[in-house]
Amino acid sequence: MKRSNSEKLYETAKNFFPGGVNSPVRAFKAVEGAPLFIKKGQGPYIWDEDDNKFIDFCCSFGPLILGHNHPEVYDNITENLQNGTSFGAPTKLENELAEIILSRNPYIDKIRFVSSGTEAVMSGIRLARGYTGKNKIIKFDGCYHGHVDSLLVKAGSGLATFGESSSAGVPENVAADTIVIPLNDESALEACFDKYKDELACAIIEPIPANNGLLLQEKSFLLKLRELCTDNNVLLFFDEVISGFRVAFSGAAEYYQITPDIVSYGKIIGGGLPVGAYGAKNHIMKSVSPDGPVYQAGTLSGNPVAMSAGIAQLTVCAQKEFYEDQEKRTKGMVEPINAYAKEKGYTFEIFTVGSIFWLAFSDKLAIRRADEIGNDMTPFKNLHKALLERGVYVGPSGYEVGFVSLVHSEEVLENAVEAFCSALDEVFG
Ligand SMILES: Cc1ncc(COP(=O)(O)O)c(C=O)c1O
Repeated sequence: MKRSNSEKLYETAKNFFPGGVNSPVRAFKAVEGAPLFIKKGQGPYIWDEDDNKFIDFCCSFGPLILGHNHPEVYDNITENLQNGTSFGAPTKLENELAEIILSRNPYIDKIRFVSSGTEAVMSGIRLARGYTGKNKIIKFDGCYHGHVDSLLVKAGSGLATFGESSSAGVPENVAADTIVIPLNDESALEACFDKYKDELACAIIEPIPANNGLLLQEKSFLLKLRELCTDNNVLLFFDEVISGFRVAFSGAAEYYQITPDIVSYGKIIGGGLPVGAYGAKNHIMKSVSPDGPVYQAGTLSGNPVAMSAGIAQLTVCAQKEFYEDQEKRTKGMVEPINAYAKEKGYTFEIFTVGSIFWLAFSDKLAIRRADEIGNDMTPFKNLHKALLERGVYVGPSGYEVGFVSLVHSEEVLENAVEAFCSALDEVFG
């Protein structure tokens, strides 16, 4: 596979950006070679600057649930673009996107649009603290919530202790208000609530943890978390930046039928343009400025071009059977690959929910906690290379999940199955 144009662009980029990238997850540090520089995307495919064509399962790390350049998204963006790009004043497009969401979402009454998932989570945490008047938060080991200071925190030593900052630049006193506990562990959860219940503003979780592998939780654990939050006046914060509009229109809350108190969205909500949002019931949202004392603002919040992309994308997502169809096609790809790996005796399994999947080099029936994932990512590195050579692009880290879009047709997915099986033969052969 020719990669010389990407390699040259990467050399130049290294002069401009730390590590040659504008987000570390794009670097190919965990896999081989220079990052591929992408020239264009159409439907389920992307082309790099060397004109290699790939079936794209990264889908911009999740936002592109309709694939690249979907005609309805494209048309709505270009139509609204003609009216200007930003006004710093309200537009009816904000109402339109909010109406599409709120009329179908029983979990929140009001929403506030921001410009990224990180901003949504950061604002939601401030709201939780402002509303409850308490400062501490619970976070789960293996969940990622954007690069919010108080959430760039890893577990301290011992159970239910204060977290330690996991990034330079995050002061320990900020990390100290975050308590990190393992996923899917009811006794750790109970111990934490016992110790800190009067100081806790919220517990934030990816209800479908999908940033450190796909760590599907037992529903009983999520219900226990809901119960403890309710009993102790602690807000339950579902970070649905990945799962929102992905596993069901109203995300994991709808998928599991569990009601959170605060929700953050990102990715799919913006149709491929920068949009995030947070929402809650009226009694909580009335704390947000200008109605209430919790300040939060944004020059480009509710940007009309971004809103128009979100409107077009979510209108398609809201169609009947959209999510059932996504899940069916995804299973149609995952099941034959898993069957093939099993038949050949390869230690490999794809875990999946909705149209999310994760490539795991494991023979465990379930992986629900970060510490259950092995450390050796060499097999993933080899698979990544073998897949690229067979025209399949997945994110360049074994901890990232893949995404299937509306336009990954059965035929495209059959081709992907062939590529995966042959790539697995190479890796295990
Ligand atoms: C669950 C979750 N929350 C928050 C974020 C941060 O979103 P953004 O990258 O748009 O800031 C991400 C990003 O991957 C995410 O997966």
